[in-house]
Amino acid sequence: MSCIAVIGTQWGDEGKAKMIDYYSTSADIIVRYQGGANAGHTVVTNEKKYIFHLIPSGILHKDKTCVISNGVVLDPEQLLAEIDMLAKDGVEVAGRLYVSDAAHLILPYHKALDAAMEEASSKKIGTTRRGIGPSYADKALRTGIRVGDLLDEAYLRERLDQALKIKNVHLEKVYGMKPIQPADVLGMLLGFRDRIRDMIINTQNFLYQSLRQNRSILLEGAQGDALDIDHGTYPYVTSSNTTIGGALTGTGLPPFAIKEVIGITKAYVTRVGEGPFPTEDLGEIGVMLREKGGEYGSTTGRPRRCGWFDCELLDFARRTNGLTSIALTKLDVLSGLEKIRVAVNYEIDGKKLDYCPTSHLGHITPVYEELDGWSEDISTCNHYDDLPSRAKEYIRFISNRLDLPVSIVSVGPDRKNTFAML
Ligand code: GDP
Ligand code: IMO
Ligand code: MG
Repeated sequence: MSCIAVIGTQWGDEGKAKMIDYYSTSADIIVRYQGGANAGHTVVTNEKKYIFHLIPSGILHKDKTCVISNGVVLDPEQLLAEIDMLAKDGVEVAGRLYVSDAAHLILPYHKALDAAMEEASSKKIGTTRRGIGPSYADKALRTGIRVGDLLDEAYLRERLDQALKIKNVHLEKVYGMKPIQPADVLGMLLGFRDRIRDMIINTQNFLYQSLRQNRSILLEGAQGDALDIDHGTYPYVTSSNTTIGGALTGTGLPPFAIKEVIGITKAYVTRVGEGPFPTEDLGEIGVMLREKGGEYGSTTGRPRRCGWFDCELLDFARRTNGLTSIALTKLDVLSGLEKIRVAVNYEIDGKKLDYCPTSHLGHITPVYEELDGWSEDISTCNHYDDLPSRAKEYIRFISNRLDLPVSIVSVGPDRKNTFAML
């Protein structure tokens, strides 16, 4: 039995998709289990760049099965757009992409409400406006519509009518927006159903049976640990559990199935949207990291905030997820810096903290150590031994401080810019 979970350890965009694509070669099944099209997962192969928002990033491996499981909130139009984009490139998904009947749908009113709430708020979260919060809220309220509901038209119509009665009051009276017509949404959903009917299954059962048959499963986390609805920097978080618990509730797999939890970790830190970011650099280093690292949102195109590596944030990810190793990405972006700062601790009112608080993170002061940088371009390195000694020292420093092995190092966006350490 083999099941590996891949989790982002910062505020998202750590390079998870690149690593999922890399690990996919030795997996049978790749599963997206939480979040929705707020995710922007980039895979670069033979100079061609794909950005996936919903379809698992292992889909380019044509002999692999991909699953969108129950924990995902699924935007029908986005899913079809991705299926069509892949088909244009000769990547067929029929017979190897499955969608959970229990996944909740993101409907036009979720997206409209997400945008309207952001516009109206004086303290914006900076959401991706993909309808994530409103859809998960409906799931919790038990007013959501699920993929399986598409298969019973009368029931679907009834659920939709009921939902729109309330949503339209909200849209019109609170936000002064136009009401949404049930017939328009129903028409779109029936068209969607006709295209994905054969993909709809009970993914919990499928994954359980796959485990019993000794097929290996790769669980693709979206967002990052610090955006978790319970453990992240609330309210500046997403609306799902991005920590390891989300992999269990989002699939229905038993905890003992997960043998490894790999934390995908950027060699510096980025954040997109609002919220505290202790090691953010608002000066020229931040600008350099953004430009050299191409740090612009894969979903919204927004510039990402950039800063130094934060060991406290990582230590929190290690504890919360039971990380077994980390994969260190974007090390190449640090080339050329004379000195590299690493936050090794947090202080609050001059006192050292021995944990990473999830509230009031804005009040803490990071304590830095400074390491020597390296000038060499490392993007062509394909072995640890090829790295300059100071880059090796940076990896060792992080690994020692976190007491975690670094299993993979990534030095460029392409598949080939990757090497294993273990
Ligand atoms: P994800 O959401 O975690 O999958 O990450 P994104 O795709 O949103 O953002 C990561 C970005 O960094 C993408 O543009 C990747 O192509 C790129 N990338 C991934 N790994 C590396 C790396 O090691 N070096 C460089 N320079 N770029 C990388
Ligand atoms: P991937 O999977 C980075 C952030 C948004 C916002 C907050 C809430 O590509 O790493 P939401 O739309 O989820 O309600 O927005 O979460 N956010 C991400 N930031 N990468 C992501 O996904 C993100 N998904 C959501 O910017 O701050
Ligand atoms: Mg991303």
